[in-house]
Amino acid sequence: MIRRPRRNRQTEAIRNMVQETTLTTHDFIYPLFLISGQNQRVEVKSMPGINRFSIDTVLDEVAACVELGVKAFAPFPSIPEEQKDKYATESHNPDGLFPRAIREIKKNFPEVALITDVAMDPYNSDGHDGIVENGEILNDETLEVLGKMALVQARAGADIVAPSDMMDGRIGHIRQVLDEHGFQKVAIMAYTAKYASAFYGPFRDALGSAPKAGDKKTYQMNYANSREALIEAELDTAEGADYLMVKPALAYLDVIKLLRDNSNLPIAAYNISGEYAMVKAAAQNGWIDGEKAMVEILTSIKRAGADIILSYFAKEYAQYLKK
Ligand code: PBG
Repeated sequence: MIRRPRRNRQTEAIRNMVQETTLTTHDFIYPLFLISGQNQRVEVKSMPGINRFSIDTVLDEVAACVELGVKAFAPFPSIPEEQKDKYATESHNPDGLFPRAIREIKKNFPEVALITDVAMDPYNSDGHDGIVENGEILNDETLEVLGKMALVQARAGADIVAPSDMMDGRIGHIRQVLDEHGFQKVAIMAYTAKYASAFYGPFRDALGSAPKAGDKKTYQMNYANSREALIEAELDTAEGADYLMVKPALAYLDVIKLLRDNSNLPIAAYNISGEYAMVKAAAQNGWIDGEKAMVEILTSIKRAGADIILSYFAKEYAQYLKK
């Protein structure tokens, strides 16, 4: 035998030397759940280790992450039911929980990157990402709300707005609104290929944002399709997206690779709540080694072609690197 691939696997030093993919804390965006009140730190039952924070305690969490080297955050608000309505009016209240949190985080940590979610669902009494009329999700009327929401977030200090709603034309509309108001510098991270997934459950628990009726299949993509992701990528790029995202990540590594091979924009992947919960649940039962599974999954997402990983594991991964 002339070729023996095992030669390059013989010792840890050699394995490290030939390793193709490495993950650092710079690769991550850490999602943060926000709730109103003071001194709140409430664990999400279906996401062990992940909490919902009031503005004062989220500052401590950001400080701890920055200390560990994680410096990009994606906050999501949990809005009380009585503040929700059909038009998600609270989503563009400049004094709402979300813009206040953005301002506070930016004031205390000007060096961090804030990636803010643009979608109606946390504020919508119907629990959908668009305005619901007779069971239908209205597209163009929803764009108006998304534009207002993005503008409030930009004014509060967002570095990057991230529309996760999957309405048609949202990137172009938001770009236009931001530019008209002098926010040329605020970037857009498009949730480009966002699939109608069963893995969003724990996130909807965390925010109380599950649809009250129906599902999201008329706007989120069918998981049986990958070419369709290229159509979304072309549109988002033409409309001015600065980043493209694939979501979920783990069951969609081929889609991450597809966008990587067909775009020169940075590609983000969202390792979502259900993917996190599965690992935690199996690890808590002693069925898998949770830490090893975490590292393997995150490395695989990067290997598939993601430049950026949104993950609930970001902090834990940073802690693991420190060890
Ligand atoms: C909705 C939104 C969802 C997530 C982020 N933004 C869920 C959904 O579409 O219902 C899910 C993230 C996760 O599961 O971790 N705009």
